[in-house]
Amino acid sequence: MIPVTSLRPLPDAADFVRAHTRLAPASPGFLTEVRLHLADRVFELWEETESASGGDEAPPPFWAQAWAGGLALARYVLDHPETVAGRRVLDLASGSGLVAVAAMRAGATTVAVSEIDPLALDALSLNADANGVTLGPSLGDVLDCDPTPEADVVLVGDAFYERTMATRVLAFLRRAQERGATALVGDPGRTYLPRTEFDALATYAVPVQRELEDAETKQTTVWKLAGAHPTLTPAAVAGA
Ligand SMILES: C[S@@+](CC[C@H](N)C(=O)[O-])C[C@H]1O[C@@H](n2cnc3c(N)ncnc32)[C@H](O)[C@@H]1O
Repeated sequence: MIPVTSLRPLPDAADFVRAHTRLAPASPGFLTEVRLHLADRVFELWEETESASGGDEAPPPFWAQAWAGGLALARYVLDHPETVAGRRVLDLASGSGLVAVAAMRAGATTVAVSEIDPLALDALSLNADANGVTLGPSLGDVLDCDPTPEADVVLVGDAFYERTMATRVLAFLRRAQERGATALVGDPGRTYLPRTEFDALATYAVPVQRELEDAETKQTTVWKLAGAHPTLTPAAVAGA
């Protein structure tokens, strides 16, 4: 596994998260079963994070928000526990850990989390405690791992917002699928989701922050990675 890297790790990261957030339902009126340490003003928190970590390259505090894709996916998992119950789950791009916590609540055997932001790992650990669940192992960037970490189900909330990341996530999901995993994605219409690769399972009107999304709600779909096209499998290519 590639380890999590950081600028200057905050020695008191958990205190930092607690001091700059409040513990609240993930989304009042949409998803209240999970409580998270959330920030009202993400851009101000980003500046605080940069000054605390000693540079201007700190990643945005994605972990201080419940993103629309994660909210829809968590809603789906809680309402369809059979998706994860008794299964080993991997939550990619975990952020706050919203989806991971929902999966544990829905009966997953284990939920491994994957994040590149060390502060997110602190935040999701606090969030796991706040919800009375245990998450782990905590992985760094696994997107280029081959074989992929063992998992029966891979969950991805809101990770198709950058071209390079989207390409890597899709390739990872295809490799995980070849190993027998089911892959589900929650996405509010981000530019780089290759919709033709997925089948829609459910769509929700998810309340979002206008400051971040320039809207009050986002139509957000939970997608399942479709089976690989037979003509594109290595076996088919070899036999052509
Ligand atoms: C928009 S947030 C979504 C968080 C959460 N899934 C949700 O829906 O609320 C995307 C997250 O992906 C993480 N991320 C970015 N690149 C990553 C990578 N290569 N591996 C794992 N996580 C990554 C970011 O740090 C960020 O926390």
